[in-house]
Amino acid sequence: MLKLENISYRYPGRDSLTLKDISLSLGSGEMLLLAGRSGCGKSTLIKTISGLVSHRGSTGLSGRILLDGEDITGWPPEEIGQLAGTVYQTPDDQLFAMTVADETGFALENRGADPETVRKEVARTLAMVGLAGMEDYSIHQLSGGQRQRLALASILITSPKLLILDEPVSQMNPQGVEDFMKLLLRLNREEGIAILMIEHRVNELAGYFDRLAVMQEGRIVYDGPMEEAWSFLTGREDMGLREPQSVKLGRLLGFPRLTSDTAESIRMLRECMKETGAEAEESPDAQSFTVKNNNSPQKTSETSAKENPASEEELAGKTDDNNENDRNNENNGNGGRVILSARNLVFTYPGAKEPTLKGLDFDLRRHQITALMGFNGAGKSTLLNLLGGPT
Ligand SMILES: Nc1ncnc2c1ncn2[C@@H]1O[C@H](COP(=O)(O)OP(=O)(O)OP(=O)(O)O)[C@@H](O)[C@H]1O
Ligand SMILES: [Mg+2]
Repeated sequence: MLKLENISYRYPGRDSLTLKDISLSLGSGEMLLLAGRSGCGKSTLIKTISGLVSHRGSTGLSGRILLDGEDITGWPPEEIGQLAGTVYQTPDDQLFAMTVADETGFALENRGADPETVRKEVARTLAMVGLAGMEDYSIHQLSGGQRQRLALASILITSPKLLILDEPVSQMNPQGVEDFMKLLLRLNREEGIAILMIEHRVNELAGYFDRLAVMQEGRIVYDGPMEEAWSFLTGREDMGLREPQSVKLGRLLGFPRLTSDTAESIRMLRECMKETGAEAEESPDAQSFTVKNNNSPQKTSETSAKENPASEEELAGKTDDNNENDRNNENNGNGGRVILSARNLVFTYPGAKEPTLKGLDFDLRRHQITALMGFNGAGKSTLLNLLGGPT
C-alpha cells in the first residue's frame, strides 16, 4: 500500500537533515503505530508522504514514495489526497468550513456528488465518528476532541485506502480514545483501510496495534512486532515513549518476558511470588490481585515522624501556616475554606440552541486540588474559561 524508499529530507534553511534515510512499508489492510520523542521528525514524515514538503527538484527531498503501486514522489497534495487521507496533528489547520455538515461534505461536493447523496453520507459519517446530529453546529462550537473527530469524518467520507493520523487522540479523554480506536479497528477490519498512526502514548495504544515503528532523530530505529519492542526499549528512556504499566512491572521484577498483556503479566507475577514464598489474595477477574504484605514490620510512631516530620505537628495544629484551621478542617475531611463557589451556573454560547453549562453547583476550597473530568464536549474548557474571566 505504502512504501518509503530511502527518504531523506532537509527543511529549507536548516543545516541538517530532519529525515534520514527512512525506509518503511505498510501492506494493504495493515495497522502501524509510529512513535518517537517530540521533534524526532514524525510529523515531517507524514507531511512528506502527503506532499506538503517541497518535493524533488526544488529542495532537500531524496528517495521514493510509492502509494498503491504508483510513484507519488512530487505529486501535489490534492492528488495524493485521492488515495490517502491524512488527519494532521492540529485539526484546526485542516478545518476551514463554517459548519460541521459543510466541512464533512466538502470533498464529496467537490467530486460532484448530488446534494441528497452528500446529505446522507454526511449523516452516516458523522454517526460513525460519534458526532451524530451535529450537522448544523458551527466549527467554533466544537471542543478539541470533537474537532479531531470532525477532521477524521471529513477524510473518511472520501473512502481512502490508507488513513494517516498524526496524534489524532491527543485531546480526547480515555473513553474518547477507546471509542476512536474501536472505530479505527472496525474500519481496518471491515473496510480493509490501512492505518498509519502517530502517537507517543504507546502505553494506551499498544493493545490495538500488532506492529510498532520507533523514530529517533530522523531515523527509524525499530520496526517490528509491538510485543518485541519492549526488550528493544529496555534502557532506552531517551526514546521518550510511555510504556504500558505491565511492561514496567516486568522489567522491575525481572520477568522472563516483557509483555503489555495484563493477564499474562499477572501469571508471571504469580510465578515470581511462588518462588519467593509471598502470598496473594485472589480476585475472580484474573486482572488484579492484592499482595498480602505480612512480613513488613509495623511502623513505630518514631519512624513515621522521621519519614514525615511535619505530619504530626500539622495534625496537632502546630503549623506555622496562618490558615491552620483550614488545614485541620481538611485533615478532618471537611476541606479548607471555600474560595470559589458556584450555584446554578448556566452558560449558553451566543446563538446556541441549548446551554453548555446546565446549572452547575460546586465549591473550590483552599489547599484542595480539584480534578475536572468529563467527556469531550462536556464543557470543561468552557467552565475554565468562565472561571478565568468572561469569554
Ligand atoms: N516548517 C519547518 N521548517 C523548519 N524546520 C521545521 C519545520 N517543521 C518542523 N521543523 C523541525 O523539524 C524537526 C522535526 O519536527 P516534527 O514536527 O516533524 O517533529 P515531531 O516528531 O512530529 O514532534 P511532535 O511529537 O512534537 O509532534 C524539529 O527540529 C522541527 O523544529
Ligand atoms: Mg508532530
